[in-house]
Amino acid sequence: MCGIVGYVGAKPVVKILLDGLSKLEYRGYDSAGLAVNSDGKIKIFKAEGKLQNLKDIMEKNPVSNTTMGIGHIRWATHGAPTTVNAHPHSCNCGKLVVVHNGIIENFKELREELEGYGCVFKTETDTETVAHLIAHEYGKLNSLPKAVRAAVKQLKGAYALCVMHQDEPNVLVGTRKNAPLIVALGEGENYLASDCPAIIEYTKRVIYLDDDEVAVLTPDTVLITDIDGKQVVKKEEILPWEPVAISKMGYKHFMLKEIHEQPDVIRNALAGKLHDVNSPVKLDEVKLTAEQIKNLKRIEIIACGTSLHAAMIAKYIIEAFCNIPVDVEASSEYIYRKTVTDKNTLVIGISQSGETSDTITAIRQAKAVGSHVLIITNRPDSIMAREADSLIPVNAGIEVSVAATKSFNAQLIALYLFAIYIAEIKDSFDKIHIKNLKQEMLELPAKVEIILSHKENIMKCAKTFSSFRNFIYIARGINYAAALEGALKLKEISYINATGYPAGELKHGPIAMLDETMPVLAILMPGVVYDKVLSNAEESKARNARLIALTSSEDKELENLFEYILKVPTVDEYLSPVLTSVPLQLLAYYIAEFLGKDVDQPRNLAKSVTVE
Ligand code: F6R
Repeated sequence: MCGIVGYVGAKPVVKILLDGLSKLEYRGYDSAGLAVNSDGKIKIFKAEGKLQNLKDIMEKNPVSNTTMGIGHIRWATHGAPTTVNAHPHSCNCGKLVVVHNGIIENFKELREELEGYGCVFKTETDTETVAHLIAHEYGKLNSLPKAVRAAVKQLKGAYALCVMHQDEPNVLVGTRKNAPLIVALGEGENYLASDCPAIIEYTKRVIYLDDDEVAVLTPDTVLITDIDGKQVVKKEEILPWEPVAISKMGYKHFMLKEIHEQPDVIRNALAGKLHDVNSPVKLDEVKLTAEQIKNLKRIEIIACGTSLHAAMIAKYIIEAFCNIPVDVEASSEYIYRKTVTDKNTLVIGISQSGETSDTITAIRQAKAVGSHVLIITNRPDSIMAREADSLIPVNAGIEVSVAATKSFNAQLIALYLFAIYIAEIKDSFDKIHIKNLKQEMLELPAKVEIILSHKENIMKCAKTFSSFRNFIYIARGINYAAALEGALKLKEISYINATGYPAGELKHGPIAMLDETMPVLAILMPGVVYDKVLSNAEESKARNARLIALTSSEDKELENLFEYILKVPTVDEYLSPVLTSVPLQLLAYYIAEFLGKDVDQPRNLAKSVTVE
């Protein structure tokens, strides 16, 4: 969480910082700030709330003769999201300024020590400690790079930092540990940023910093050293995206655009891996040998949020196709208990961003005990991807909306391919069924297109139910996780209390809540649990709940039971979550839209959860 941009060069600094921050708004949006070296002086500007408030301030306060600057968009961890707590933070004399993403765990001890040296703290943040600490070292070393290196040796926790000092008007210093930071290279100018969208408009040439590296940027040079000042030779990489990948393309919100991108996202995820039903799935990215695959005793999948729901669906299909037991666990739980993972266990980490702190810690723990770690991510440039033993990039394109949509379906496709790949090597699933599944996977993009071209009923349903404060989503089997995901989408963007239940669990407690104020949405896909879910829906109707069905069934009788029937095309039950997820994304979207919520940037959230 939190986004950082730094710039040194001759272009208008404020514009570059504000443009960059607006591309990083998905990382946090409760306050923002920037500092520039203008007319030889450090000037700081901050605003509470959305970035627009900072833009308004900058409009009224033009700055001249700028040489460099640093900007920050915040998702508060220590200290309320007030103007005073917004970054950048400065030292006593105001000459040294810092922006920070992450958490400094030992900030209290450091603060006490620095107060002893006469540092006066103005905020409740952990970051202000870093500003005073670097300034304290600067007093001794009289060099910004040296002071940063000396200071970070004393920090515990996670940080990406961007620092500048008034007396070094062309020197920008960045460093990181367990939080992302890239260096971007221009002509006569250089940049630092938390993520590529911030700079892609200006350059595609980047260097990915590793933990404990310190980058020293001037307009014409970039020097990267380790924490002791020893130069590190780094590879320059070219970003594979065009700036258009991060525009709304005429849609009102990124979320709506990203939902509509799903047919192409599925095509992309299949490309090069599955092109005809008679050839085996090709997954060169999986580095396990056939022998190792045949010897796999267990698979553990770790993930958070939406990615965790994709993992739950994967458990279902891997166990069914590959006959290998699969455990699924939230990364935040996995890391705080004894894990019995070993080298005969494959550990799969799923993460859209590849940056989620808990999942990074979990995969590191798994690697430490010798497990092969396979990462499925949308960001092949991320920390997780770089640490993976095997990597399946899902190629969904940059996802800007905080609520994950297209990345979920891209992850599912990668997981289906993986399960079929293993099943083909192990010969563990019916060959005819595999062939049919492959055929149906190739047809999924067209089926999603059908759903997207018939949205009117979903919109009507959204309007009818937008005034309800509670919702229950029920399903069984493979669609239980789809119900959880649908409920999560509704919760996070409309703030309606939506809960997913395995339909059979309803009568073990939740049914007590049912009456006409508690709508029930049932995922009713033809297959092994169809009749069971139908009975559970009948039980709900008997308690006066208003009912919505999400189904591919043509049964006319359903019209007597359900107030709305959201239709999806017929599909093999194993693949059905790819289709059922789409109307649920749209339902959440339209309800939030009717309620006038901030769809792309829901309150209290941030897209990359880089703190524990
Ligand atoms: C929900 C959502 C979050 C993320 C979760 C994990 O719409 O976006 O629940 O799924 O924070 O993020 P990644 O997948 O980046 O590890």
